[in-house]
Amino acid sequence: MGDVSGLRAIDLGCGAGQNAIALAKSGAVVTAVDFSSNQLAEAKSLAQDENVKIEFFNSDVTDLSFLADDTFDIAISACTMAFVNDIKTAFLEAYRILKPGGMFALSVMHPMQYILDGEKGNMHFCSSFPFNPRLLKWSWEFDGISVKFQNHLRSIAYYHNTLTNAGFEVKKLLEPKPTLKTPHLGFSREIMREYPYIARNLPVTLIFVAVKQSFHNRGKAHG
Ligand SMILES: C[S@@+](CC[C@H](N)C(=O)[O-])C[C@H]1O[C@@H](n2cnc3c(N)ncnc32)[C@H](O)[C@@H]1O
Repeated sequence: MGDVSGLRAIDLGCGAGQNAIALAKSGAVVTAVDFSSNQLAEAKSLAQDENVKIEFFNSDVTDLSFLADDTFDIAISACTMAFVNDIKTAFLEAYRILKPGGMFALSVMHPMQYILDGEKGNMHFCSSFPFNPRLLKWSWEFDGISVKFQNHLRSIAYYHNTLTNAGFEVKKLLEPKPTLKTPHLGFSREIMREYPYIARNLPVTLIFVAVKQSFHNRGKAHG
């Protein structure tokens, strides 16, 4: 992100706040948004422990109408947009609140993660690259409680084109090579056992670095 000191930054879908805290520690003036009050409580407590000031808001990232236009130098969103049903509106909102020339850095699970399918008892390649967006639903057991999840699988092109349609210019795409330290949480234990070489050699994360074009006159998401 370069030198962020003195810049106004917003974390969209901040979760427990680790990225917002890292930005604040690097000198940015940070706002963070999430719609989970549990996650926000964690984030507030962590920010206090780390002795940084962050302004937190409980809100959906598709409606940031409490924030003024052209306010932020940087918006980040780490591993959140796959949960968001309407990323067109989320991107229009990110565009609106960024200053002209402001940077939007966005990470999602790499769609290559979905070419292996652990859900079918017999592991096999399912060739399910999400050429068209698909909604994946599953549940995990935590201490006997079943928690439902959903995730929108979208292609690289879909994210790219939705960003550019919202008025962003995509400056960079990053596909970091997994390291032995990469947790590979996207894969089931069975996949890791059966296909460790393949799993370790697929990109885990896809990162877009986009910039708000100042001349692009977009429609507003709200109002
Ligand atoms: C996987 S966590 C990532 C958290 C954090 N960015 C990180 O990298 O650790 C996804 C977060 O997105 C939040 N989230 C999902 N959909 C959202 C939405 N529509 N509006 C606001 N927050 C959302 C969830 O509550 C959760 O905290």
